[in-house]
Amino acid sequence: MMIGITGTAGAGKSFFAQIVKETIPSFSIMELNDIAAEHNLFSGTDKFGTRIVKVSALNSKVKALQKNGKDANIALVGHLLPELKTDLDMVFVVRANLEELIKRLEGRGYQFEKIKDNIIAEALDYCGVNSIHLSKDVFEIEGRAEMENAAKLLKAHIEHGKPIDIKNKPIDKMPELLSLIKGANKYKF
Ligand SMILES: Nc1ncnc2c1ncn2[C@@H]1O[C@H](COP(=O)(O)OP(=O)(O)O)[C@@H](O)[C@H]1O
Ligand SMILES: [Mg+2]
Repeated sequence: MMIGITGTAGAGKSFFAQIVKETIPSFSIMELNDIAAEHNLFSGTDKFGTRIVKVSALNSKVKALQKNGKDANIALVGHLLPELKTDLDMVFVVRANLEELIKRLEGRGYQFEKIKDNIIAEALDYCGVNSIHLSKDVFEIEGRAEMENAAKLLKAHIEHGKPIDIKNKPIDKMPELLSLIKGANKYKF
């Protein structure tokens, strides 16, 4: 099967992918950024100096992967997943606390405006909302406990065909955004 793991930068996609790998060692973890880098699928840089990925070229690579890896368990990981046009068995959208996300992105040295863009994207659930064309099963998870539970459910699904018992309801970030707006912080949302 091919699953997707997406979410805002710093939300914990790679962290969750690692938990999936530890729980189900047969999974191959494929980061979209690595696929783009390996095949040099870039068309310049954005206003933050980040390389822009050629999405249609990336889509073709993913389609080829899907065709050649029919019998494998593959997890595609990346914030660009919603831009792809492909059918996945399920998608996990990794969500994060907004204040925590600010700290993580500051830790990565992201510029002020880039952090702001990412926090707004997380608050509005950009990745979740834009993933619905990828699969009928799009699950939102947040925090280590929910990640571990999702990995366990995925294992039971693969081994025994059990349905993945996670509510399809998106996580509401409005209370966190309101608290950021009201609180004293330099981002002034
Ligand atoms: N649930 C979590 N508990 C503790 N640390 C986490 C959790 N999720 C992510 N992190 C940490 O946050 C940082 C960003 O996570 P990462 O998986 O690299 O994000 P992404 O791949 O979405 O950009 C990493 O240092 C990771 O270890
Ligand atoms: Mg990552």
